[in-house]
Order: sequence, then C-alpha cells, then structure tokens
Amino acid sequence: MTKKPHNVDILTLDELESKEINNIIDLAIDLKKELKKGKEKPLLQNKTLAMIFEKPSTRTRVSFETGMFQLGGHALTLSPNDLQLSRGESIADTARTLSRYVNVVMARVYDHKSLETFARNSSIPVINGLSDSYHPCQILADLMTIKEHKKNLKKIKIAWIGDGNNVCNSLILGCAKLKIQLSVAIPDGYEPEFDVIKIGKDAEILEVSDNPAAAVQDADVVMTDTFVSIHNTNSDRVKKFLPKFQVNQALMNKAKKDAIFMHCLPAKRDQEVTSDVIDGSQSVVWDEAENRLHVQKALLVHLLGV
Ligand code: CP
Ligand code: NVA
Repeated sequence: MTKKPHNVDILTLDELESKEINNIIDLAIDLKKELKKGKEKPLLQNKTLAMIFEKPSTRTRVSFETGMFQLGGHALTLSPNDLQLSRGESIADTARTLSRYVNVVMARVYDHKSLETFARNSSIPVINGLSDSYHPCQILADLMTIKEHKKNLKKIKIAWIGDGNNVCNSLILGCAKLKIQLSVAIPDGYEPEFDVIKIGKDAEILEVSDNPAAAVQDADVVMTDTFVSIHNTNSDRVKKFLPKFQVNQALMNKAKKDAIFMHCLPAKRDQEVTSDVIDGSQSVVWDEAENRLHVQKALLVHLLGV
C-alpha cells in the first residue's frame, strides 16, 4: 500500500495546518455563493464517497450525500450491518477493500480507534464524521459560520458551556490552529481529553473552568451541545449540568451584546439551551447546520486534489 501523507485523513482536525483550514473555509464560502447562483461546477465528477454509519445522523449523512451529488460525484451509505463487518470481517480488510472501489471514505463510529485502524489500512482519504472523541467536520462548519457572521476569525473569543465532549475536543484543536481565544466552562469530571487540553494550553488560547459566567465574559460566540451524546449511556449525567451549565438569556446577556449562539444540533430544548435562546435573534444554528454542506464539499475538493 502506498503511504498516505499525514494530512489526508481528517480524524481530529489537528491534521490540517491553519492555512489549509482557512483555504477550506474560503473555498466553502465561494462554493456556497456559486450554489446559490446555480453556477456550481462538477468538481468531483466520477468520484465516489463511501459513508459508514455506526450511529444515527441527520446533518452529516444528508450534507455529505447532497454535497457529492452537487459536485457531480456519487455517495453511498453503508451501515455496519450492510457490510461483512457484521460477520466479523476486520476493519483493516474492509478498509483495504473499499480503497479499491471508492475515492474517499467518511465514517461515523463509536470508538475513535476504529477510525485510526481504518485510516491506517486504507490508501484513500478517510474523514471522521464523528467519533466518541472528535467531530472535525462540525468545527470546520462552525469556523466558517463565525467567519460569515463576524467577518473574520481574528480577535474572536468563543465560550463553550457544558460537556467537554467530541465537539469540544475538535473545537479546541481548531482554535489552537487559528489562534482563537476559547474559554470552556465544564463541570468537574466532564473535561475534554487531557492531550487536547495540553495542545490548547500550549497554543495559549485555552482557559478551562467550571464558571459559565466568567467564560462568556467578552465572548463573541457562545456554544454548547447536548449533555447526553450518542455514546453516553447514563442519562443521569444531566443532573451534573443543570441548572448551572444551561445557556439561557441571562447567560447570553453576560457575553458581548452582539454575541451569536451556536449549537451543532441535535438540541434538547430547555436542557442545554433554553428555547428562547436557540430560537432567538442571536442564534445562528440554521446557518451552522447549512454550512456543513458547503464546508464538507470544500474539504472533499481539498482532499481529492481537484
Ligand atoms: N451535528 C451533527 O453532526 O448532526 P448529525 O448527528 O445529525 O449528523
Ligand atoms: N456530542 C454529540 C454531537 C452530535 C452531533 C454526540 O456525539 O452525540
């Protein structure tokens, strides 16, 4: 198998250099404009994306499939039950096989190590469509959304309130690359991955506390996510977050006046965020969801080198 360059698999977001992230965001903004004008180009004609979903998905599945269609390519969705994986064929052999048919793979998995094994054994780019530990595509879409609403990504402060989960881990990596200040307020025991915190601290962009009011002070962006991710089995964990880590209007009022509210979705209204905030004038969650489409198209174009 030919050895792939390290930045061809997007498993955490750390694989991309800051310049590459900025280029992908700018290309996504261009592709969005072209699409709205009905002028999109078939940049991925004859290319095929295989998508493997161990977990449910609305946005990731529909945006990747639609994106490939819009770029003139093809996408196929596979659940592990459709594959011989369900009968014990190894991840490595599945990766070797798919590499002979398709041009790129996107996988949503439980254990992040499955993705690493898949990537190691494939000769084509592998994209993480969410694992228990990281969600890089979400953060590319989030950074694009912030750029659209705040005009650029310089002198931005983001506050993350709630669970130090997969989305938060990739957010820290993205902010470390682009030198965006990030203040996370997280209950004791729910912190992001230790190694990821170290990257954020080394880049001098990260503050970690359990104080939501302090985290949102001077923030341009307030973000949260569900308290119960797909892989969390104990729904009792919600008690650890409420009421202190809920994003409500009182908390939004402590951020900058023109702060925007973001959430990767799906949301549990009146749990991690109140209905008035997610449905209110500061919320940009539908732009954020839409931008998954544009930024993933840009990522695919970047990875397939066209
Ligand atoms: N935000 C996100 O990844 O949504 P889905 O789980 O619906 O794909
Ligand atoms: N943290 C959430 C994100 C869903 C897009 C989860 O893993 O379920």
